[in-house]
Amino acid sequence: MSPPLFEPRRRLWLLRTPSTSYAVRIDEDDTVRHVHWGAALTLEQAGELAERTPAAGSSFDAVGGAEELAVEGGARFGPPSLQVRFADGTRAVEWRYAGHDADDGYLSIHLDDRHYPLRLTLHYRVHEDSDVIERWTTVENRDERLPITLRRCDSAAWTLPGRGGYRVSHLVGGWNSEFRLRRAEVATAETVFTSRRGLTSHHANPWLAFDDGTAGEEHGEVWSTALAWSGSWRITLHRDPAGRTTWTGGHGHEGLTWSLAPGETLRTPVFAGLFTAGGFGAASRAWHAYVARHVLPHPGEPRPVLYNSWEATGFDVDEAGQTALAAQAARIGVELFVVDDGWFGGRVGDHAGLGDWTPNPDRFPHGLRSLSAEVHRLGMRFGLWVEPEMVNPDSDLYRAHPDWVMHMANRERTELRHQLVLNLARPDTAAWAHAWLDRLVAEHDIDYLKWDANRPFTEAGWPGHDDPDRLWIEHTRAVYRIMDRLRADHPGLRIEACAGGGGRADLGILARTDQIWTSDNTDPVDRIAIQHGFSQLFPAQVMGAWVTDSPNVATARQTPLRFRFHVAMAGALGVGGDLATWTEDELKEATELIATYKRIRPAVQHGTAYRLTGEGTLTAVGFAHEDRFVVLAWCPSRPYGHQPAPLRLTALDPGATYRDPDTGATYSGAVLLRSGLPLSLPEGDHASALVQLIRIED
Ligand code: DGJ
Repeated sequence: MSPPLFEPRRRLWLLRTPSTSYAVRIDEDDTVRHVHWGAALTLEQAGELAERTPAAGSSFDAVGGAEELAVEGGARFGPPSLQVRFADGTRAVEWRYAGHDADDGYLSIHLDDRHYPLRLTLHYRVHEDSDVIERWTTVENRDERLPITLRRCDSAAWTLPGRGGYRVSHLVGGWNSEFRLRRAEVATAETVFTSRRGLTSHHANPWLAFDDGTAGEEHGEVWSTALAWSGSWRITLHRDPAGRTTWTGGHGHEGLTWSLAPGETLRTPVFAGLFTAGGFGAASRAWHAYVARHVLPHPGEPRPVLYNSWEATGFDVDEAGQTALAAQAARIGVELFVVDDGWFGGRVGDHAGLGDWTPNPDRFPHGLRSLSAEVHRLGMRFGLWVEPEMVNPDSDLYRAHPDWVMHMANRERTELRHQLVLNLARPDTAAWAHAWLDRLVAEHDIDYLKWDANRPFTEAGWPGHDDPDRLWIEHTRAVYRIMDRLRADHPGLRIEACAGGGGRADLGILARTDQIWTSDNTDPVDRIAIQHGFSQLFPAQVMGAWVTDSPNVATARQTPLRFRFHVAMAGALGVGGDLATWTEDELKEATELIATYKRIRPAVQHGTAYRLTGEGTLTAVGFAHEDRFVVLAWCPSRPYGHQPAPLRLTALDPGATYRDPDTGATYSGAVLLRSGLPLSLPEGDHASALVQLIRIED
């Protein structure tokens, strides 16, 4: 990878990705200013842009263009990315450029405060196979005696070209309703997207996309960013009345402080950005490719078809019941059997036992080893649910270590789902969590952990610690470290990220997990929208999707088994229904559909995804892989009983012919692209289709 280009006269750098470029410069007062982010430019062209410094309109307006990481101080009135307080109370920062390093797609720009011992480094990294630009910062206290208080330290600020107006796409939700895509005009105001929950959250996701209001699924310029962080976060979007649109983001929510000790350096998480000229679909595909190439630990591995016991048995797990379920699961083609909550301590409901991580002897008289051995004997891998960050007050762990939870002096310990949050920022608590997980995995031949976290932080204090807000960041880092160590010591172990469904979905957790439990809502109609939002950033191979019973436990909606399968087959397929109650016909149909999934799995999990829109309520996803294009189409309701018009496809060769191996029908690529694929959907609501198209050699 070639290093960024540098023009010394203007102190201008140009980072190049395969089809975009990004330029920054240092101006006369040593401020790092944004120059360009978008279509590819030469250094000379970027230089022309760098000459344009917006003029101040009056003494009430800040001078200069947008900054790469604005501080407090001087005539700056927008949201600061970095806020500090030095030991003498000074808060303003004044920079002096202190050099740069550039190498193989990497650039760092160093800035020193002109008076105080603070160094800021802006980091940029690009890859030769991706248009994603990774940015982060480090701040270093170079003093030998005094701490520096950090009040905000963002990873990056991003800037859009000056245009008339912009639209922001973002994800909203809640428990059972995650990842709902919203599009809204960017207000001339400061708009905050945040999580104050200690987890990424169900409610907002640190992914945003911007367009000028004209982009569509397959056309238009889109700028998008994603923060690789699994704790609290904040992104502040600012459109000023002069029309400048910027957003700054990083870990931690407002009001937290961090005392940077003498000699200490804080490194922020990556805040990645992507410019694409091919619409929201191209943006998602570029993110999916980036996640596969640069984030996931095992992107090339097929995700196994899993079975999870949660919806079937709830907390009523025991050896006999799970063994029976495992036998049924193996019979229909499941490859990984996961025992969910309820297998340990006194955990017979959600009110007790969390924290006591030894198998419940009444429920598992032989421990877990015999179940693990039986699951392996059946040819499946064995997985187990854990919730290492939490504790029920009614547990031996809490009785022994009441000080291990996040809490504050003289304050109630707010229980949510009858549980409290362990403070893993404490080295002793983190060591305990790692030790039992390590033992559990080693002693029970565990192939897969579902790592859950079922409540947000409250009273997040650390009595006795002189810098207690640290726990908001150190807790998440400890989770990362424990996962990283487990993976390193148990190379075969795979991990599912879960936080009461999709409450912890981000690029930070994906760097050490293999899939995400998308939502506790397994209703296939709701899932279509949830999966649509999820797919904006995340690839199908990490999107856990189960087929459960009908009527659905969350919505009471009744849907055919085939429809439930077809929706779940657009992700990493799992089964979560009570197989003991499925009829022979249902088990037979499930067996056939799982076998079909395994045939299309390379396309779904390792192909390129296209979101397709049909007529009425018809939506679909197409996966292109080698000579195949696999379509999964869903029609939740059919007003007036009409068959929707043929579904127009994309990404096919107009000159090629495609064959449907199930019906023998052949289609020309041009017709599929322009007129569409006729779908013969079954009568009634909740109709769906799976069509494979294989390119025929001419
Ligand atoms: C929340 C998860 O999302 C569910 O799938 C299940 O694991 C429960 N927690 C268990 O308590």
